[in-house]
Amino acid sequence: MEIRTFGANPAGLARFFIMKILGIETSCDETAAAVVVDGVQILSNVVVSQIDIFKEYGGVIPEVAARSHLEAILPVIDKALADAGCSWDDIDAIAVTHAPGLLGSLLIGTLTARTLAILHNKPLYAVHHLKSHVYSNWLNSKALAFPSFPLLALVVSGGHTQILYMKGHNQFEIVGTTIDDAVGECFDKVAKILGLPYPGGPSIAKAAKKGDPNKYKFPHPKVEGLDFSFSGLKTAVLREVQKELGLPISHPSHDLKNHLSAEQTADFAASFQKTAVDILIEKLEMALKQYPEVQSIVIAGGVSANEELRKRIRAFFPALELSGDNGAMVAGAAYWEIQAGVKPTDPYKLNIYPRISVEN
Ligand code: KG4
Ligand code: ZN
Repeated sequence: MEIRTFGANPAGLARFFIMKILGIETSCDETAAAVVVDGVQILSNVVVSQIDIFKEYGGVIPEVAARSHLEAILPVIDKALADAGCSWDDIDAIAVTHAPGLLGSLLIGTLTARTLAILHNKPLYAVHHLKSHVYSNWLNSKALAFPSFPLLALVVSGGHTQILYMKGHNQFEIVGTTIDDAVGECFDKVAKILGLPYPGGPSIAKAAKKGDPNKYKFPHPKVEGLDFSFSGLKTAVLREVQKELGLPISHPSHDLKNHLSAEQTADFAASFQKTAVDILIEKLEMALKQYPEVQSIVIAGGVSANEELRKRIRAFFPALELSGDNGAMVAGAAYWEIQAGVKPTDPYKLNIYPRISVEN
């Protein structure tokens, strides 16, 4: 750790600790590493996406993802260090995603991080993936533009849809969660029905630009309180497509795309996207009424890249290139955890938790 001492100020001698953290992320289908200074300044951010592999299959295949991580992880870390102009001597700590995610994918990242931490004698921090997404909102921020506490975080990704209440750094309370599918998963499944390529989120957003968002009406789920449900919306789209095409509900869903015109596809994409965003906003507004003391709203996770969502909610959003999985947010989260008193983990013992909650 490099300690910089600045000149005297009215309060005496101010000391600034500059902490460079190497963040490693492999929880799903992106192999990523980054070097971040003090949770804010990104020196490098390398992301190798496996999207091209999984486009062919229409979704992630866990064993293939793990194998691709294994091939990419060391070159990705080397590039992150080189891009940052850092040698191992410059790195103060290593942070890695250990939960939640795909078992094999998490294993590659954590085993690599453990080995590097032992080899280079660096403290190792284990980070929860949802915390990383939330902390993507602090990256590249000007000091005055940080979200303030208490805050509400809407985490919307391929695996999660949650509203989190944060009293302060590293204090996460789940106040709403999906009882079935995540919203990103719903985008992906609806895209499949419409014959739009994987990953569904960006494909739907693109198709929706040419469509009429009011052409088809889909009901909002009746879920108590701040919880969400997205599996009914996917089925509602399926039934409406069958109805529009005059086909029975027994007609195989994978064939429907062959009967849809480009205009119908665009209208379905736009109407579905509008409903999904309406549902998210409805619950966020409810949460704000329930927690009137909140000072900021932050949106995070892959779906936070959605333009419609960005247009309709006034909140902190991560930079577009940081809304999907990346290593910078892992390094960022670790920094704020360290500020909140979290201690390093034992590199000989660090475990993975494919399904653990952010509150643990
Ligand atoms: O956070 P993320 O990269 O990975 C997980 O932690 O799950 O999120 C991936 C999800 C996918 O479901 C993808 O379709 C969705 O984010 N997504 C979007 C957009 N870009 C990515 N959903 C809606 N609109 C987008 N522009
Ligand atoms: Zn993610």
